Amino acid sequence: MIQCTPIGAVGAEVDGIDLNMISDEDLENLKALFAETGLLFFRDQELSPEAHLDFAKKWGPINVNRFFTPVEGYPSIAEVRKEPHQQYNIGGNWHTDHSYDQIPALGSMLYAKELPKVGGDTLFAGCAAAFDTLSEGMKSTLRSLRAVHSSRHVFGKSAAIPDDMADLFGNADKALQDAEHPVVIKHPLSGRETLYVNPGFTTRFVGWTEKESNSLLSLLYEHISRPEHTYRFQWSKGALAFWDNRATWHLAVNDYPGETRLMHRITIEGEPLEP
Ligand code: SIN
Repeated sequence: MIQCTPIGAVGAEVDGIDLNMISDEDLENLKALFAETGLLFFRDQELSPEAHLDFAKKWGPINVNRFFTPVEGYPSIAEVRKEPHQQYNIGGNWHTDHSYDQIPALGSMLYAKELPKVGGDTLFAGCAAAFDTLSEGMKSTLRSLRAVHSSRHVFGKSAAIPDDMADLFGNADKALQDAEHPVVIKHPLSGRETLYVNPGFTTRFVGWTEKESNSLLSLLYEHISRPEHTYRFQWSKGALAFWDNRATWHLAVNDYPGETRLMHRITIEGEPLEP
């Protein structure tokens, strides 16, 4: 029997489930919980890459990330790896994945394979709760805006990828995506109004210069990342986090120098975003 512990502004811990064998009823309950909270955590799972893929496919087609190095033998599983000699990590700043795509991915399932002795947590932020706590004046201004998102400055040829991370990414010539999305989306699963800008990939508001956009974007970023909108997940081996890119941000804390952290990530296709 599934037990669920909701977490403040974003997410829920789910217990009493083995992701290798899910009944239709459990899946239906998980889908409702995911729509409501935008983020699910499962601990103590023993998942082969095939089982991880099987669970992911229950939510939609797999999106193969064109920039991440895949797990050997599994082209649709991305490797999120940091080795002892590496200074920087993948995803070390607040972002939401794939906002640079015309149809951003629904979300990702990150599975903990190897962890540092301490540290290596992931922070999450809830973008619907963050919208709710803005003033009515700000909400109505934001509802009228669209924003540009790009992958060029992160994965492209001009991106400042540190040398010791170069082998973690590829296909810089494919980082040509620019997409426009509403700044406030109607979340496709929950129907909640949700802020959809992020420090990783949003470059400006449509019709505004970057300079004009920066102060309002910074204000929104500070607001979304306020502690009351966030949750810090402490990983354990075999834990799996499943986040909704349209409802959350995440940040991988880089506080374990000289140690290895290895995660497997599977991403699921999404749908066009509407205001
Ligand atoms: C990511 O940004 O997808 C990686 C998150 C993490 O490693 O915790």
